[in-house]
Amino acid sequence: MDKLVIHGGKKLSGDVTVSGSKNASLPVFVSTILAPAEHEFSNVPFLRDINTTIKVMEQLGATIQGNGNVVRIDTRGIDKHEATYELVKTMRASVLVLGPLLSRFGKARVSLPGGCAIGARPINLHLKGLAAMGADISLSHGYVEAKAKKLQGARINFDISTVGGTEHLLMAAATAKGETILENAAREPEIVDLANVLIKMGARIEGAGTDTIRITGVSELGPVTHRMMPDRIEAGTFMIAAAITGGDVKIHNMQLEHLDALVFKLQDAGVEIINKDNVVRVKGPKKINAVNIKTRPYPGFPTDMQAQFMALMCLADGASVISENIFENRFMHVSELMRFGADITTEGNAATVKGVKKLSGAPVMATDLRASASLILAGLASDNTTEVSRIYHLDRGYEFIEKKLAGLGADIKRVQE
Ligand code: EPU
Repeated sequence: MDKLVIHGGKKLSGDVTVSGSKNASLPVFVSTILAPAEHEFSNVPFLRDINTTIKVMEQLGATIQGNGNVVRIDTRGIDKHEATYELVKTMRASVLVLGPLLSRFGKARVSLPGGCAIGARPINLHLKGLAAMGADISLSHGYVEAKAKKLQGARINFDISTVGGTEHLLMAAATAKGETILENAAREPEIVDLANVLIKMGARIEGAGTDTIRITGVSELGPVTHRMMPDRIEAGTFMIAAAITGGDVKIHNMQLEHLDALVFKLQDAGVEIINKDNVVRVKGPKKINAVNIKTRPYPGFPTDMQAQFMALMCLADGASVISENIFENRFMHVSELMRFGADITTEGNAATVKGVKKLSGAPVMATDLRASASLILAGLASDNTTEVSRIYHLDRGYEFIEKKLAGLGADIKRVQE
């Protein structure tokens, strides 16, 4: 198993380029099930979760070719309608194949994903939506079995904002009969990227990016060529890397408008952010101000940036309160951050972080993807040596992170344990 060894205390500087978005690529790959054709995607990040999605698609009968960050998917040969536990348990987003398989074949059998380190993460709203569209759904032996001769358009009002649920029903509705209206839909930029792909395939979708999406089903969808949007969470992580080390970093291939909530909070913390000619320059402050955050669905502060922002607040001048409102167990980085000397207390979904003068390097363990990133950030800002183990979590979602950080002057190496 690999671990990262970081000798902290270096101010990061220079240029870094953000990769394509993991959370946009996963549903987009799955959406090709709907269109039996050859598709091409560029700016695809080289990640473990992308590999898992490729394996799921291959298991269904798709042919996939990769060349650097370009991936070609031929979905004409798909002849199976089952996603097994072995794959779904390693990446819960695989469950999104259910709706597209059901649309294409009238039946699908997909393993239930089960719990996750950051929360229970049920898929009840995905299933409720598919049932409203006429699917006959049953659960047996840990699998969801769904049948529908033809999915029918429906009006679906989500109880809570769900990114995966919105993506799932958007795909299912694209070739359903009649009109589907998704109300209280999630508005994340990844949903807009997925809608753009479906529209290029020939789908009729209006309102993606707002809380009401209207989809008029079409009888068939065709091939698509698409460049994936940049990964906003990777970009945000580099912004905090610059901020926490008091560095000066220029970030390329990012869409700053996707990170408004983070930008406002970083500015309140004293970080300077300059957006010029599509390059975002981030300068860390001498003194970090304490700032409160509450995670919310987009355009609120992203839960996927909470752990990294907490690392920054560990070194703030004063106390901040960080409230996690999306997942019920997303504070596992707290006890690891305390191993660096951070002063954090939690009560329910709120963590009070009292800034300390310095963090000191420590051996720590990654518990989930974004938690791993927060430990690296703390390590970069610490004196002495930090060892982050269990970094397989990190490899799910950050492309070449240690190489990118080393390119900015960080002393960081991947070694085998
Ligand atoms: N929820 C339900 N029922 C459902 C669906 C969701 O109760 O049927 C709950 C969840 O348990 C959670 C909340 O609704 O408490 C929001 O979950 P959502 O469905 O929005 O999350 P997701 O689609 O499973 C995606 C990202 C996550 C990101 C969340 C929130 C992908 C592959 N994953 O998950 O990304 O945290 O949206 O923005 O897009 C990550 O990249 O590290 C990551 C965890």
